[in-house]
Amino acid sequence: MMNRLPLWPETVVRVQHLSDSGICVIPERYVKKPSERPSISESIDKEINIPVIDLQNLCSADESLRRKTADLVSTACREWGFFQVVNHGVSHQLMAETREAWRQFFQLPLELKQQYANSPATYEGYGSRLGIGKDISLDWGDYFFLHYLPMSLRDQNKWPTLPDSCRELVAKYSEEVVKLGGKLMKIFSVTLGLSENHLEQAFGGEIGACLRANYYPKCPQPDLTLGISPHSDPGGMTLLLPDENVLGLQVRHDNNWITVKPVPNAFIINIGDQIQVLTNATYKSVEHRVMVNSVKERLSLAFFYNPRSDILIKPVEELVTEEKPALYSPMTFDEYRVYIRTRGPCGKSQVESLNSQK
Ligand code: OGA
Ligand code: NI
Repeated sequence: MMNRLPLWPETVVRVQHLSDSGICVIPERYVKKPSERPSISESIDKEINIPVIDLQNLCSADESLRRKTADLVSTACREWGFFQVVNHGVSHQLMAETREAWRQFFQLPLELKQQYANSPATYEGYGSRLGIGKDISLDWGDYFFLHYLPMSLRDQNKWPTLPDSCRELVAKYSEEVVKLGGKLMKIFSVTLGLSENHLEQAFGGEIGACLRANYYPKCPQPDLTLGISPHSDPGGMTLLLPDENVLGLQVRHDNNWITVKPVPNAFIINIGDQIQVLTNATYKSVEHRVMVNSVKERLSLAFFYNPRSDILIKPVEELVTEEKPALYSPMTFDEYRVYIRTRGPCGKSQVESLNSQK
């Protein structure tokens, strides 16, 4: 097959290599404009956190508790675009083991990881940049990206073999997380007043799923850069397993950056652009970013739960009314994804460019 984008436009620098080299000053390419730098004052929001929701309460015998919990989900999706879930059904041990396997992978010598070096054609493998454009601003992080679904894209030969357990753990973990994603799709459908399978059907019946293990090395000048620049996730929803020890994720809320305080063994769930489009902006895909620090590296596993990539995604009829006409023109996820891959993380400009009212 001919790849349209066989190579990166310039030599890829591993952020881990920069970090290990002992530099005290980070290269210009990683320095953000003053207005985009993480400001310390903003991160002192000790009291505020994204909502934490106990999913077990949705099956409670107590009907008022069920209703209250469904309302929490609905409010979180409308007002935050983000929440944490506990009692989500995924084995805590499996979560910890999978995270540990990825930690070990990123601790391997660079030469070994280079064997998995990715290219912009598919992004699968070991990578250090998200945008393809030459001279774009770079973020302080490396990652490993892989496809889990559809089956036609799953290629376990591209997944790490070190540590030994990695492939097996990733397969088990993904299977469990997909199940949780399916449950959440039903919950979202019902809380939107739709039938239980509505969103899953609007996703095309079969889903896409990929995993990105993010690794943010220590940074000598964390005030000047970001681990990931502000962006909204382009897909359906993201199920994130954050680092259990190191804070970093910030969510935009009422024009402030709120630092997420992870609850032990929880997943952080966020709405992506495709659910924002399908729900005609009832549920919001919210901007977020990642801060780095000079003391400790940080690892997170972002699992992206996406619609089938070749069907048109547009607001569902039930959520289009005279007062709220369709906000977005139809587009496939394949078409949509090209944009973010060209420019790298760029706030919410992508989903807003679809807005047919502007
Ligand atoms: C992402 C993301 C957050 C984090 O991978 O899209 O937003 O905490 N990750 O690593
Ligand atoms: Ni994200």
